[in-house]
Amino acid sequence: MDSKKIGICMIGAGLRSNVTRLLFGKHSNVKLVSICDPDHKRAAERVESLGFNDVKIFSQCEEAINQPGVDWVMIFSPNTCHAGHIMAALKAGKNVFTEKPMATTIEDCEEVFKAFNNSNCQLVTGFVLRYSPIYRKVKELLDAGTIGKIISVEADENLSVELGAYIMKNWRRLRANAGPYILEKCCHDLDLLSWFIGSLPCKTASFGGLNFYLPENDYLRIEHTKSDGTGPFNYYPDPNAVESPFTCDKDIVDNQVIILEYRNGVRATFHTSMSNPIPERRMYISGSEGTLVLSYGKISVRRIGEEAVRYYDLEITDGHAGGDQVIMDEFYKAMMGELPPKSTGLEGLESAVIALSIDKAQRSNTVVDIESIWQKLGH
Ligand SMILES: NC(=O)c1ccc[n+]([C@@H]2O[C@H](COP(=O)([O-])OP(=O)(O)OC[C@H]3O[C@@H](n4cnc5c(N)ncnc54)[C@H](O)[C@@H]3O)[C@@H](O)[C@H]2O)c1
Repeated sequence: MDSKKIGICMIGAGLRSNVTRLLFGKHSNVKLVSICDPDHKRAAERVESLGFNDVKIFSQCEEAINQPGVDWVMIFSPNTCHAGHIMAALKAGKNVFTEKPMATTIEDCEEVFKAFNNSNCQLVTGFVLRYSPIYRKVKELLDAGTIGKIISVEADENLSVELGAYIMKNWRRLRANAGPYILEKCCHDLDLLSWFIGSLPCKTASFGGLNFYLPENDYLRIEHTKSDGTGPFNYYPDPNAVESPFTCDKDIVDNQVIILEYRNGVRATFHTSMSNPIPERRMYISGSEGTLVLSYGKISVRRIGEEAVRYYDLEITDGHAGGDQVIMDEFYKAMMGELPPKSTGLEGLESAVIALSIDKAQRSNTVVDIESIWQKLGH
């Protein structure tokens, strides 16, 4: 029986906060104490969906955080709120689980990281793919030297048109809420690249722009929306979505290409776009003794001289390639003091610095020297 009682304050009660059902549903000693969300209706619906009935709802995070019995603060608010919410929780002496990204400016990342290091609190970041069995298998194969030393990597995250439209219709379409798209959506992939390559990038260049979600393409939405309102441009439910991803105001890119050079000499390219009937999340890793290709749930590996390609088929379609359940299971163990978390403030800081450097490279049309930022941060 679980004896240690753990009280949770939830900040932001939207779609992603639903992942906590995998925590509360398994462990009766973990209790939701308070919620902060300016949308009280949404917060009340989340309380009900999680099966609680005595949860206090607030609009100000400090009130929710300082409720008696709160041990951990779980942050699911829009990205630009994260730094302030983490700082408020650490100031109150609470442990934190925050969704990615940790912050949306390098200055805020630095401030949060310092506050975390100077506290006695834990800071867990939601890099859910680090918890997915398929990505863990890739890491295991690479660390075992299956393809020798990594030489170069080609990676991508090309979103379905359904997911792209969802992003372009909600708060994520504005940098003031989400930060740049490369941070908001691709910080997972940048984190995986650092993890797999075992190093940090020191230089980057990038080109990107908005070429699909433009008013002249609104005919696609009109043509493909059925009389009942369903269609690829209305696929994911979102109470706060605008009508058209094409005609609404926005200031993020919808396609971007990136090159990166790592401290250990590995080179990588990354391509992302958000309007695809054939979505893809793939990594092609070229090594000194072989090749590893990861495409969704399938890993293909062949060593030089080997007769045939070896396949590892770990297709798991449940939440983030199985990562949602594992991150909640391991988060529970971290709260119980049984297992250190696999993604902390360090991964939060590093992936944000990389994404924000890429964004700077794209916007300034220059090669950005990330090494000087690592030096300044003492990394
Ligand atoms: N790890 C992952 O794979 C993953 C997946 C999806 C979302 N996320 C992250 O989770 C976070 C939430 O995303 P979502 O999809 O649930 O968005 P959402 O729009 O569904 O929900 C956001 C919620 O935050 C609330 N909110 C707005 N301002 C707030 C404030 N100042 N204080 C408290 N709450 C506030 C909104 O009312 C809304 O209920 C984002 O940071 C996103 O990047 C992570």
